[in-house]
Parts: sequence; C-alpha cells; structure tokens
Amino acid sequence: MSNVRPDSMERITTPELADKFIAEQIAEVRAQVGDKKVLLALSGGVDSSVVAALLIKAIGKQLVCVHVNHGLMRKGESEQVIEVFKNQLDANLIYIDATDRFLDLLAGVSEPEKKRKIIGGEFIKVFDEEAGKLEGISFLAQGTIYPDILESDGVKAHHNVGGLPEDMQFELVEPVKLLYKDEVRVVGKALGLPATMVDRQPFPGPGLGVRCLGAITRDRLNALREADAILREEFDIAGLSTHVWQYFIAVPDMKSVGVKNDKRYEGWPAIIRAVNTTDAMSATIEEIPYAVLHKITARITAEVEGINRVLYDLTPKPIGTIEWE
Ligand code: XMP
Repeated sequence: MSNVRPDSMERITTPELADKFIAEQIAEVRAQVGDKKVLLALSGGVDSSVVAALLIKAIGKQLVCVHVNHGLMRKGESEQVIEVFKNQLDANLIYIDATDRFLDLLAGVSEPEKKRKIIGGEFIKVFDEEAGKLEGISFLAQGTIYPDILESDGVKAHHNVGGLPEDMQFELVEPVKLLYKDEVRVVGKALGLPATMVDRQPFPGPGLGVRCLGAITRDRLNALREADAILREEFDIAGLSTHVWQYFIAVPDMKSVGVKNDKRYEGWPAIIRAVNTTDAMSATIEEIPYAVLHKITARITAEVEGINRVLYDLTPKPIGTIEWE
C-alpha cells in the first residue's frame, strides 16, 4: 500500500463502507503476513485498538498484542483493554504492569520535559524487553493514520520502530494508514469495538503524568485518577461527554487549608478542564451548568482522599494550553 491516499478513495462514513474496507484489509494483511507472527503495542487508544481488532479478524493468534500499563492510565483503562481484547476477542495479549518501574523512575522529578522523556524512554525499554522474549516475530503492526503521515512522515513517536533492538528486523503492517480519524472510528464500530473505546477523547501518551503536576507521588496520582473518574461519570450522566471535546482533572503539587469533620484538612485542589476545539490548536471553554459543577465538587471532595477544593479552569487556548503540565 502506498503512503498516498488516492483521490478516488471514498470517505468511509457508513457501516457498509467500513465492512468493505475491512474485507479488503483482511485480504491484504493475510497476503502480506502469510503464516508469520505480528507484534503490536496496544495502548488502548483508538488507533491501536482498531488495528488490533482488524488484525485479530485477519490473522487471529498470529497477532501478539503487548499492553504496557505505565501506571499513568486513567481509572479502568487497562482493565478495559484486557476485558475487550483478551476476554471478548480472545486475543493473544501480553499484559505488563510496569507501574512500579515508571513511578520509581519518576520519583522526585518535577520538570515536565524530563518527566516526558522518562516515560517515553521507559515505555520503549519495556516494550523492547518483551519483544526480545518472543520468538519468530516478523512484523510490527502500527496504528499509523493518515494525519500522522501528512504531519510527520509516517512514524508515530510513541510507536517508535527506531527504538526497537537493532537485531530485530520488522516489516510494518499499517492497515489504517490511509484513514482519517473519523473513518478509523467508523471502522472500529463496524469491528464491534465498544463506543467507550472508539469514541475516546484524546489522551496523551504520557497519560496522567502530564496532569499530576510537578513530582508525581502515588497518593496524589491516585487522588487525580479517582477525581477524573468522577468527572467522567458525571459528564456521562449530564450528557456532556458527547459534545465536549476533551475533559479531565489536573492536580497541582500544592496544598491549601480546609475543614473536614470540624478538623483542619489540608488538601490539593482538583482543577477541571473541559474544552471544545476542532484541531487542538485553539480551544474554547464549555459552559458547564452550575448544578453539574456543584455535584462534581460535592462528590470529589467527599469521595477522594486528599482533595479539599475543586476549581474550574476558564482559560481558553491561547493563552492556556489544553493540558496543564
Ligand atoms: P496542548 O496542551 O498542547 O494539547 O494544548 C493539545 C492536544 O494534544 C494532546 N497532547 C498529547 N497527545 N501525546 C499525545 O498523543 C502527548 O504527549 C500529548 N501532549 C498533549 C492534549 O491532550 C490535547 O488534546
């Protein structure tokens, strides 16, 4: 398959068009791979999930998926990857809980770029180690999509082939590389992936690491994860999740005084970010009904250990970026 989308290629907007694309790709992947094995780093994001589901259909157990939990996933995310791919689709899935490795390396590191480098570097190291243990892998599958090719010459930084051991020569399998994001979602739905996976909002590779500001500690990371889960639950209930582009909690490394059960209670603030955008280059603030904000505040402060205030960030991009970091 060439790296240029032909002008004649129809935009995939319906289940029928998705089914046709899936059938074509199954034939193409089978022809490319034969009876050889394919390795895939399965993050649980939209692109790698759709590639995994497609390849499971095409080559079944010849696909080996590796899911690395870096300890910075949102609540329930790694569990969903295991449930969908291992339990429902019967995938050949290797799950690695590398939480301690990542959090030990990150301990005491407050500089954002340094944190990102540690997370990215360690991710490749863990993936390489696992790949090195496997025998007979000939191909590496990637969730490259068309905007990646247009923007960066085709290789996703977090799927960096260059980071794999020198003695491993992989040929690439990239079945969705000519698709735009909306098409990948239509294909994912046609493959039977759950909407919670296919319609997922963007989530940075370094995960909650960019939202647990300053030096990450396990207790503050845990508070962030629980508060974020409450925010997502309440947005679902209020019907906001389908029309707010991205929403999450950030927790800075600072405490203020509060009161709980008539006692002084020092805690971190949970900052809500909820933005709308088309391309993430600029963003506007969603007007969340006060009743929803009050409910989220009440739940987070009552249910999450260590949080004693909830704030709503009203800053558009520019001047604020979407992430805090
Ligand atoms: P900012 O904070 O720059 O974010 O306004 C713009 C969009 O990019 C996402 N983001 C990332 N996505 N890897 C990613 O795949 C990353 O390292 C990363 N950092 C930020 C951010 O969530 C927002 O949607």
